[in-house]
Amino acid sequence: MTVTVRALEEPDIDETIQVMKEAWNYAYDTWEKGNYPQEAHDFDMSLNTPERYTASMEYEHGFFFIAELDKKIIGSIRGEIIGASGFALIRNIAVHPKFHSKGGGRALMEYTLDYLKGQGCHKVSLHTQVALIPAINLYLKIGFIPEAYLAKQWWGMDFILMSIWLGSRVQGPGSR
Ligand SMILES: CC(C)(COP(=O)(O)OP(=O)(O)OC[C@H]1O[C@@H](n2cnc3c(N)ncnc32)[C@H](O)[C@@H]1OP(=O)(O)O)[C@@H](O)C(=O)NCCC(=O)NCCS
Repeated sequence: MTVTVRALEEPDIDETIQVMKEAWNYAYDTWEKGNYPQEAHDFDMSLNTPERYTASMEYEHGFFFIAELDKKIIGSIRGEIIGASGFALIRNIAVHPKFHSKGGGRALMEYTLDYLKGQGCHKVSLHTQVALIPAINLYLKIGFIPEAYLAKQWWGMDFILMSIWLGSRVQGPGSR
């Protein structure tokens, strides 16, 4: 069975919220605890509401894709293109722990980068925590490069800004 990726639709929202809550609770317990404040995690989790998912799905500059395996939602990715600038930000990607290491993360990322390239984006960035080793490995494997180290960013935590350059406008490390 292979992972497929498609745009989030209204009937998918409740299942996607459940998958994301379980995915991020697992990520917190496994990699973030002791690094990322509990109140930060609680805040992030409070954003998993049908209203917010609907707004993200309907936002004209947004993208929100889900990965499915055997007709079950296993993960999602979402973000936005900053107007007509050609720059996009990935805000969130996660796969349910029961389905880790089955290619879901890579499929979500590949689909998104193809989509963003088709939308004329020349650069895509994301923020990640130092402790999220599987995620950092995924980004490096796809071709993102660590562009900046952001000391004491939100919640006073250190983050890494990772970026990839798309298309022919730019060449060099991190371009595809
Ligand atoms: C990051 C994440 C989305 C990867 O999803 P996944 O479906 O397990 O990833 P894939 O099976 O597609 O693996 C793709 C690559 O990711 C990296 N990777 C995945 N799991 C890994 C692990 N446990 N340890 C190290 N690297 C790992 C590898 O480079 C892998 O490539 P390979 O299979 O050729 O070795 C998943 O671990 C996750 O949801 N983590 C918690 C949420 C999170 O950290 N989100 C990112 C926030 S910035």
